[in-house]
Amino acid sequence: MLHLAIVNGPNLNLLGIREPHIYGSQSFEHYFKQLAQRFPLVHLHCYQSNVEGELINYLHSCMGKVQGIILNAGAYTHTSIAIADAVAGIGLPVIEVHISNVLAREEYRKTSFIAAKCVGSISGLGVDGYALAVQYFIDTLASKTP
Ligand code: DQA
Repeated sequence: MLHLAIVNGPNLNLLGIREPHIYGSQSFEHYFKQLAQRFPLVHLHCYQSNVEGELINYLHSCMGKVQGIILNAGAYTHTSIAIADAVAGIGLPVIEVHISNVLAREEYRKTSFIAAKCVGSISGLGVDGYALAVQYFIDTLASKTP
């Protein structure tokens, strides 16, 4: 079975409440249930933290546990060399996801320390960016998974 981790960074626990005109009005828990139903043959692990070091520890813990990671590092995307180093260090394919189109927003959101360490990035497609990333991993990894 394909095991994937969805890792959400700071303030993404507030999805549904936080700036709904940018991030939508659906909680991540609600969306995650739909996602799990949509991909019944994939085991989706889900983790959220507002703390940089906890995100790094979780990324490390993914080694040997999952085959791919979908990472929305929130604002740490634009600041964290440490998370970028973790992504580079764990040797797992990571897809960067952003719900909003970070390139169409403030200048400081246009830099991602993480993007260059990832397989690719999805930005601006709403929460469905997570589903697109899952589908990518199914298409590219499922045949390699025992
Ligand atoms: C975000 C974009 C980031 O710039 C922001 O800090 C977030 C959410 C997104 O999903 O659009 O927290 O990663």
